[in-house]
Amino acid sequence: MSEVKPTGKRLLLVAACALVDTDRRVLLAQRPEGKQLAGLWEFPGGKVEPGETPEQCLVRELNEELGIETEIPCLAPLTFASHSYDDFHLLMPLYVCRRFRGIAQPREGQGLKWVRPRQMRDYPMPPADAPLIQFLIDLL
Ligand code: C5P
Repeated sequence: MSEVKPTGKRLLLVAACALVDTDRRVLLAQRPEGKQLAGLWEFPGGKVEPGETPEQCLVRELNEELGIETEIPCLAPLTFASHSYDDFHLLMPLYVCRRFRGIAQPREGQGLKWVRPRQMRDYPMPPADAPLIQFLIDLL
């Protein structure tokens, strides 16, 4: 992705993170009932708040959603998604984090699953997330 063409749609910046454990498995989170795209599996993360960098957002979201503690130097940028939904355009940088403390817990009632990179294709994902899988397969 090298160009974002203006579409007149609201631009939404969401940061996402592939947490990687010592067995090279990646954590996927299932979007809970009641949310848009409920039931689909995604990389943890969330909306970047005003005044936040994507890295600050991820440190906060990983703690809020999963009880995971990490620091900005532990987040390595890998790639980013750009996807036009009906009502907004999503830009979503994907980071990789291998150094974190704590055991991931579903603090927001979401399903959680540690999966091997090639198994990620078996988990239905939002259209923005699915193209990111290949980058992780190549990396891991
Ligand atoms: O997670 P949240 O609902 O705040 O994200 C806002 C929107 O961004 C979602 O409704 C979804 O369309 C999109 N999104 C996505 N992939 C993610 C996270 C969010 O496509 N990993």
